[in-house]
Amino acid sequence: MRSDQTVCVTGAGGFIASWLVKKLLSKGYTVRGAVRGNPEDGKYEHLKELEGAKERLQIVKADILDYQSLVTVIRGCHGVFHMACLLNDDPNQVIEPAVEGTRNVMEACAEMGVKRVVFTSSIGAVYMIPHRDPLAIVDDDCWSDLDYCIHTNNWYCYAKTLAEKSAWEIAERRNLDMVVINPCLVLGPLLQSTMNASTAHIMKYLTGSAKTYANLTQAYVDVRDVADAHILVYEARSAGGQRYVCGECSLHRGELVDMLAKLCPRCPVPTKCSDEINPRKQPYKFSNRKIRDLGLSFTPIEKSLADTVASLSDRGFLHYL
Ligand SMILES: NC(=O)c1ccc[n+]([C@@H]2O[C@H](COP(=O)([O-])OP(=O)(O)OC[C@H]3O[C@@H](n4cnc5c(N)ncnc54)[C@H](OP(=O)(O)O)[C@@H]3O)[C@@H](O)[C@H]2O)c1
Repeated sequence: MRSDQTVCVTGAGGFIASWLVKKLLSKGYTVRGAVRGNPEDGKYEHLKELEGAKERLQIVKADILDYQSLVTVIRGCHGVFHMACLLNDDPNQVIEPAVEGTRNVMEACAEMGVKRVVFTSSIGAVYMIPHRDPLAIVDDDCWSDLDYCIHTNNWYCYAKTLAEKSAWEIAERRNLDMVVINPCLVLGPLLQSTMNASTAHIMKYLTGSAKTYANLTQAYVDVRDVADAHILVYEARSAGGQRYVCGECSLHRGELVDMLAKLCPRCPVPTKCSDEINPRKQPYKFSNRKIRDLGLSFTPIEKSLADTVASLSDRGFLHYL
């Protein structure tokens, strides 16, 4: 793929998408940023201020639940990055945009002759496996179990798994070239002015709203690396038809709060685990080899967290620093 092309990014005003738009513009791409709201809304102002935006960014209103609006925004694009999704665990809110929205985007891409789609799935479509061996390595061959997602009330993981399965089914049936990125929980500096769900995961430990931390583990990745990963797989001919797990490290919540406490000594970071009975859960192991082989080098979690905290402070979300 050549960087003088026109590409579309759905949900362009979001946390990861804003970084993707910034990096696509800096590489010379012309970008059509599809947004759900009014393009003149102040929440998209940060996109208009990006370098190259005046010349090569169009912000276009398109709801992923409105097929015709997608056809209009995708027409003439070589590539599409489908990122739009709601991030919450309410089945009434998350399933339809994830699954129907993804189907609409995929069908519109096929109808408009798009050359490659990069779909932002999630580690949630990979690692929700009952009785998973804690020593087993989670990689792109793994698929979350839909029944297990239902039984554990993980509706976001359910929706992303179903959305990704639907996307692969349509890609095959419509002969559409697709690559999938499965990011772990994404941190790093914000470009947008609003709070997003994965940054809120950190905020609750800095503001005193979480009094304890859970006996849980999570894998993390920097937003700038996730954006780079999307461009790498878009441009690599060999990437077509593959999934790429995108994570830097896996931590117990206790390790995460210790790092945050060092970064923000004046913040009311919790020091106690809510589960003082069971042994500490072991962080799961995963492989990010495939995306590293394409040339991605990951930002260490310490830098990612430091930049997240600095960005929250700059934007007025944190007042303890
Ligand atoms: N952040 C993470 O930790 C993480 C990890 C793994 C995967 N992901 C995936 O990465 C993608 C981006 O996540 P993010 O963290 O950047 O989330 P985000 O900041 O909430 O951005 C999501 C964007 O999707 C848009 N959107 C939602 N419903 C829409 C609809 N019906 N039509 C058009 N746009 C719609 C939102 O627009 P509004 O502003 O109008 O609501 C928002 O701009 C998602 O697919 C998510 O599942 C995220």
